Amino acid sequence: MSLQNPFEKLDEYRQLPIKQQPQWPSAQAVSAASEELAKQPPLVFAGEADQLKQQLALAAEGKAFLLQGGDCAETFAAATADKIRDRVKTVLQMALVLTYGASMPVIKVGRMAGQFAKPRSSDTETRDGVTLPAYRGDLVNGYDFTEQSRSADPQRLLQGYHVSASTLNLIRAFTQGGFADLRLVHEWNRGFASNPANERYREMTREIDRAVRFMEACGANFSELERTDFFVSHEALLLDYERPLTRVDSRTGKLYDTAAHFLWIGERTREVDGAHVHYLSQVENPIGVKLGPIATVDDAMRLIDKLDPNREPGRLTIITRMGAEKIRDVLPEILTGLKAEGVKPVWVTDPMHGNGITTSTGYKTRRFDDVMQEVQGFFAAHREAGTVPGGIHVELTGDDVTECLGGSENIDEATLATRYESLCDPRLNHMQSLELAFQVAEELKRLRR
Ligand code: PEP
Ligand code: CO
Repeated sequence: MSLQNPFEKLDEYRQLPIKQQPQWPSAQAVSAASEELAKQPPLVFAGEADQLKQQLALAAEGKAFLLQGGDCAETFAAATADKIRDRVKTVLQMALVLTYGASMPVIKVGRMAGQFAKPRSSDTETRDGVTLPAYRGDLVNGYDFTEQSRSADPQRLLQGYHVSASTLNLIRAFTQGGFADLRLVHEWNRGFASNPANERYREMTREIDRAVRFMEACGANFSELERTDFFVSHEALLLDYERPLTRVDSRTGKLYDTAAHFLWIGERTREVDGAHVHYLSQVENPIGVKLGPIATVDDAMRLIDKLDPNREPGRLTIITRMGAEKIRDVLPEILTGLKAEGVKPVWVTDPMHGNGITTSTGYKTRRFDDVMQEVQGFFAAHREAGTVPGGIHVELTGDDVTECLGGSENIDEATLATRYESLCDPRLNHMQSLELAFQVAEELKRLRR
């Protein structure tokens, strides 16, 4: 039996068409950075990716629910203790609302510790007659509008790795070291502004507290409540970053992308014969692919055959992002078509990316109502098709930013300017995220009735 080097097949991606890549200053500079990156330890352990896959297999069956959330584009500057803590807290709070509301285990996955590379609609940006390369995320170039900052710098690949490592370290510390202890849930709200969603959350934590004290009085042992799994994910856009962090797992001899537990392919790079799809088809991690409103059943089947030929439970997540207006028309047909083919991916809604608008004042934003409409359309489509809604994928932050319109704070166009911090897409703020979680919990409860 000849032992084939698994990298040979993986590296066929280098011969395939690839979209959305930066113009590096020289091939040599990228190779040097890659070599350096290849010497670094993996960020995640292959066995953790396997565990996530097992949990996702439950989500595909309706026995768990995936909550995936974080920044559109993380930045190196925002990888501070406070901001990481608040994002983790927000995801934990949403997860609690969902778990408690729907009595369903929630799989927590951050768009964190590596979500640094962005696809752009244009390669360049022009301001006041000056044209420079578009900002492609901190892994590639800087946001400042100067020639130097906008030039792609391969050293950023290494910096991205180190920032990811320190982010992941803090996430692990928080979620394993007692911070996520369910008996402290009421503490998580400290520091967040007072608002209606927070009040509702407080009320819920009081109920949980009572239940936990009751169980303790009965002599139950709570080691399970002290810590929680928290996985990380990002779009596998920049293969110059993913490739040096892809390693052979010594247990199985198989390839894992150790830059994150879960990787996904974006709507703009999901050509079935392209480099990105080939790349993720060759690693063992659980993976995702985005599906927008123009996708057909046939497109989806070709992607599934390539990315999950063995129909492995939990392997493939399909993240639909149809837009609030289209989802009720478009999604049921896709769900029914794939159900007829016998495939059972984890179906996840991304209610953000199909609902972008630009205000007359030039802000990229989204209406909270559209986000909710898409979520409701997602659940309705699954009810219609008799398929399983397996999770939600959102862009959010723990900060009280004003980037998305509406919600119970009624953020309006004039308010957007007060605290708009995203360098890319608008995120739900802390309160909008909690509100969303309460509404998703209602949909899940309805499902269980
Ligand atoms: C994203 O998730 O940030 C993104 C770019 O989404 P999509 O690929 O769905 O456009
Ligand atoms: Co985005």
